[in-house]
Amino acid sequence: MARRALITGITGQDGSYLAEHLLREGYEVWGLARGQANPRVSRMRKLLADVQVVRGDLLDQGSLISAVERVQPDEVYNLGAISFVPMSWEQAELTAEVTGMGVLRMLEAIRVCSGVSRGGPAAGGQIRFYQASSSEMFGQVSETPQNERTGFHPRSPYGVAKAYGHFLTQNYRESYGMFAVSGILFNHESPRRGAEFVTRKVSLGVARIKLGLADELRLGNLEARRDWGFAGDYVRAMHLMLQAATPEDYVIGTGRMKSVRELAEAAFAAAGLDWERYVVTDQALHRPAEVDLLCADPKKARVQLGWEPTVSFDELVALMVESDLRLLSDGGDPDQDSSWP
Ligand code: NAP
Ligand code: GDD
Repeated sequence: MARRALITGITGQDGSYLAEHLLREGYEVWGLARGQANPRVSRMRKLLADVQVVRGDLLDQGSLISAVERVQPDEVYNLGAISFVPMSWEQAELTAEVTGMGVLRMLEAIRVCSGVSRGGPAAGGQIRFYQASSSEMFGQVSETPQNERTGFHPRSPYGVAKAYGHFLTQNYRESYGMFAVSGILFNHESPRRGAEFVTRKVSLGVARIKLGLADELRLGNLEARRDWGFAGDYVRAMHLMLQAATPEDYVIGTGRMKSVRELAEAAFAAAGLDWERYVVTDQALHRPAEVDLLCADPKKARVQLGWEPTVSFDELVALMVESDLRLLSDGGDPDQDSSWP
């Protein structure tokens, strides 16, 4: 019988790549989707026709228990979150509820449905759990590069909520013997990335300028540095973590850092343009507390999981710019269902 996976955050960037990967691996894939008329669910259904949908919300404990009871998953991937860092200052309580408490609710749903009891000897349960932890937990970094032992100093309500989910996942592993792990993933991007994140904002901005639809691109802090990889590579790591013999946390990234300035330079160059003619900096886009740099040390994942990224920074930027040029040339709208590449 095919193994069954339940993915929260199925309508997001990672949910789509992970679903495709698991379907290729022969899984029966279920996606948890929220809302009664969520347009992102219709878009997802069109592109991932083989994914089955179960209704539920990370804010609603009962719905998660019902979803686990219905799907009877072998593996649960908790990707659902408020994931845009600036939004976490504007809606800090909602971020804590979805990105932080949502992890507790998902773990409780699994614990209750697996019959794992409190107090008794660690009984484990059969369902394996993946938590989407984030390099934003490192925040103001204490060392570079960051590995599984680097301390946390989150700089946003989002980072704080992710740190809660991270420690809780570790705690359920230690308290109940559950196979519960966190992937500490560094920034990963793709043509499916939300338009609010800087890589996609830049690739769409370049495409609009190239096609004469805009004449400038407004950005915030050009000096911030990130370790950017390709989302398709990172979902393979999620799956590998749940196939390991023992439940452990892993850092996933490329080990290379680039600044937002270098990102803009590369993206404009990919379209034959000089970035300095078009990029305008805007103080309003700076964050109340910035994460200046993030750079992964993915050695543990390489050695223990055999995981390696396959797409370089330059390849990633070029593929995003090419994809957005195609999308806009064809009259597509990045916010509309039909335009999801
Ligand atoms: P994304 O595109 O923003 O997707 C977020 C998903 O969360 C969407 O499917 C959204 O569904 C869902 N969601 C929001 N509120 C929910 C709720 N109350 N109940 C259930 N689902 C809800 O994010 P992503 O880039 O794919 O990232 C996936 C996960 O990895 C997130 O947890 C993110 O924080 C984490 N992460 C991402 C990166 C990265 O660089 N991409 C790095 C480290 C960690 P709707 O369509 O219903 O809004
Ligand atoms: N979004 C955005 N828009 N960011 C900008 C801009 C702009 O106009 N200008 C400069 N930046 C800088 C931000 O200040 C930040 O330092 C960097 O670009 C990256 O911003 P985002 O692409 O929004 O991503 P993030 O690093 O804050 O968060 C992403 O990666 C995390 C992992 O490190 C998200 O995917 C999180 O969910 C994820 O956990």
